[in-house]
Amino acid sequence: MGKDVIIACDFDSKEKTLAFLDQFKGRKPYVKIGMELFYAAGPDIVREIKARGHRIFLDLKLHDIPNTVKKAMAVLSGLDVDMCNLHASGTVPMMRAALEGLTRPDGTRPLLIAVTQLTSTDQETMERDLLIREPIDRVVMHYAENAKQAGLDGVVCSPLEAEKVHSVCGKDFLTVTPGVRFADGDVGDQKRVMTPAEANRIGSDYIVVGRPITASPDPVAAYMRCVNDFTCDPE
Ligand code: C5P
Repeated sequence: MGKDVIIACDFDSKEKTLAFLDQFKGRKPYVKIGMELFYAAGPDIVREIKARGHRIFLDLKLHDIPNTVKKAMAVLSGLDVDMCNLHASGTVPMMRAALEGLTRPDGTRPLLIAVTQLTSTDQETMERDLLIREPIDRVVMHYAENAKQAGLDGVVCSPLEAEKVHSVCGKDFLTVTPGVRFADGDVGDQKRVMTPAEANRIGSDYIVVGRPITASPDPVAAYMRCVNDFTCDPE
């Protein structure tokens, strides 16, 4: 399973997204569609990219009462996406309901992964706004264990947390890690970053890469560099 580079297609229209993907010609990279593009272009963008032969991670981070999430997941599953996600803070019953909704009549379903604590939340914010007083890495591991207990396939986490998630939840529990940058590239607004080669060494299953590819003068070359660095055998 896994070990792939997922391109975060953070565009605000269908036209920009398809023009971007056109550059890849015969190649069919794994594509992440987030809230911006989904809310701008609607479910049709998912159908269109899927029809072109790409795999899709639909990053909508659901969080609501179990019944609502279950029904929403059934709709997303019908779009034939390959991976989708929710917030682990929605609790174990919500995650179990999501899995039920996602499972198709023939027993197949997209991968379901959980967001633990967003990387934009730090210890201080978590204590002040959420009244959670445990150390943040303990909270992240607890949410990962809840996701595993609920039957999910893995978590989205910082590359720095991937090794620990694997040691706590097992090697087969997927880690999907954003915050990836080339050693010679711009960090932008990401705080804690890793190169694709480092993410490979620490055992990330999928890396999510946006601007280092989408803002590159040669997106295909940047994508191929990510794939090579991430998938070659670490020395
Ligand atoms: O452009 P960049 O490589 O920073 O894009 C990273 C992608 O991963 C964006 O779509 C961002 O929303 C997403 N993401 C993240 N950090 C998280 C969860 C998702 O950067 N903790």
